[in-house]
Amino acid sequence: MTDSAPVDPTSTDGWKKLAAIADGFTPDLRGWFDSDPGRAAKYTFQAADLTVDLSKGLVTEDVLTNLLQVARDTGVAERFRSMLAGEHINVTEDRAVLHTALRRPAGIEPSLVVDGQDVDADVHATLDKVYAFAEQIRSGAWTGVTGKRIETVVNIGIGGSDLGPVMVYEALKPYVQPGLEARFVSNIDPADIYEKTADLDPETTLFIVASKTFGTLETLTNARLARQWLWERLGLADGSDEDKTSAVAKHFVAVSTALDKVAAFGIDPENAFGFWDWVGGRYSVDSAIGTAVVVAIGKEHWEQFLAGFHAVDEHVRTTPLEQNVPVLMGVLNVWYSNFLGAQSHAVLPYTQYLHRFPAYLQQLTMESNGKRVRWDGSPVTTSTGEVFWGEPGTNGQHAFYQLIHQGTNLVPADFITIANPPRPLTDETGDGKGVAPGTDVHTLFLANFFAQTKALAFGKTADEVRAEGTTDEGIVAARTFPGNKPTASILAPELTPSVLGQLIALYEHIVFTEGTIWGIDSFDQWGVELGKQLALQVTPAVEGDQEALDAQDASTKALIAKYLELRG
Ligand code: F6P
Repeated sequence: MTDSAPVDPTSTDGWKKLAAIADGFTPDLRGWFDSDPGRAAKYTFQAADLTVDLSKGLVTEDVLTNLLQVARDTGVAERFRSMLAGEHINVTEDRAVLHTALRRPAGIEPSLVVDGQDVDADVHATLDKVYAFAEQIRSGAWTGVTGKRIETVVNIGIGGSDLGPVMVYEALKPYVQPGLEARFVSNIDPADIYEKTADLDPETTLFIVASKTFGTLETLTNARLARQWLWERLGLADGSDEDKTSAVAKHFVAVSTALDKVAAFGIDPENAFGFWDWVGGRYSVDSAIGTAVVVAIGKEHWEQFLAGFHAVDEHVRTTPLEQNVPVLMGVLNVWYSNFLGAQSHAVLPYTQYLHRFPAYLQQLTMESNGKRVRWDGSPVTTSTGEVFWGEPGTNGQHAFYQLIHQGTNLVPADFITIANPPRPLTDETGDGKGVAPGTDVHTLFLANFFAQTKALAFGKTADEVRAEGTTDEGIVAARTFPGNKPTASILAPELTPSVLGQLIALYEHIVFTEGTIWGIDSFDQWGVELGKQLALQVTPAVEGDQEALDAQDASTKALIAKYLELRG
């Protein structure tokens, strides 16, 4: 599989049939539900604890049959197995892709050996080291250089070394040990580290420098600023090297695949947690990159988190494509983007705890599938990589849903929610109108979840608007909702660590399905390199070097000159 050329999806029979179906396709969710009382049940699926209703999608039997045929003909299931086995499906970096190994439970026989490495043994040895460290912080056995227990861990990382940990920390806040807090610094804008450390006590703060490569400009700059902050705030700025080193030893740990560079920074390799080049940054939240979260929520919850991922990995591995939830969602995304013209995809969590989930998914989906060549270097044969975006409901309802309901763009949307909130509240007084005293606010919240997917699917016809009393025809048009806006509804019992792991794995495998169909390597990210190179090249000009300034293009030169003028 690793060397084989990707199958051009557009050459498959399924694709050709889909193209014919798409020609003149008139979705009719009202009609489809009316004529098929079993539609909801037919298109509702289960993956571990996730109930996924795709019936409000623009899907028919014909469409689904052909989409799944495309998945078969492009080898989605075979490539998934290749990935699990450690084949080098990340062709452009000649690497295995083994984030699924990060959550394999201990003791599976035979153990996974890839490129001579006992992956299972290494994963669990690292996990044990992270758990032991986390327990030291949680119990207070680990103290800062002045003997005080750690109260705040500050994760310094960016991209996959930030978005995953911060998203999971926010999602699992109810599981955080009282008295412990995690913060996350990512941006090289000094405002970020300034604001995140301004009110912290250095004696009770520990920094986790998280960087797969330990070469990322933003992270290393912030790590140096953090070290400087620590020394200054501990009164060691003019202290001895020995005192400074002792402070770093007690207030800095690192997570990286490059342990030599960790040591060069001054962090004791004993206090460093490794991972491997077969874990992509955006697939690394369940590796040691999650150390800040393990500290916050503890070993037991982290194990549940990993078990959630594994449950969905097993679902994908063992479930026929017709019932395989990530595959079904992935092929539907292909349908929407390649055949129905959707260019973006909204992810709308109806649980505030998932407020960073869309941001996390932006990297997972777009860094993975925003590609224009296939894994053999040939151009892609169809458009790839939708723009993923979103905000929690109900906030989004009062912001951008207008466009989804009545705009001219097709925006498929995933609605995600939970039945049982961790922090239920009752509105004791009510509003004297629709909200009765004693109303469970989560019920109000979820009424919005259900109402929105209903409105998007079925809309409101002109006759319905007229029947409500609107007579001016101009206004009737403005008040009409076309409906047939596709949504997927994902419902879980509650946002446990396991359910969160399941949700992340679900999207990882949606990305995989789409990427495989398009024939692209979803595990490299060459597209971010040019900006990094140019930032380094431009830096002397921004520092005022005239020769470097003269070497810039006219626009960049003028902008930098204006910037220098404004800085004075
Ligand atoms: O910007 C690209 C990228 O390599 C991401 O893929 C990665 O998650 C991020 O930078 C951070 O990289 P690192 O963990 O090596 O600091």
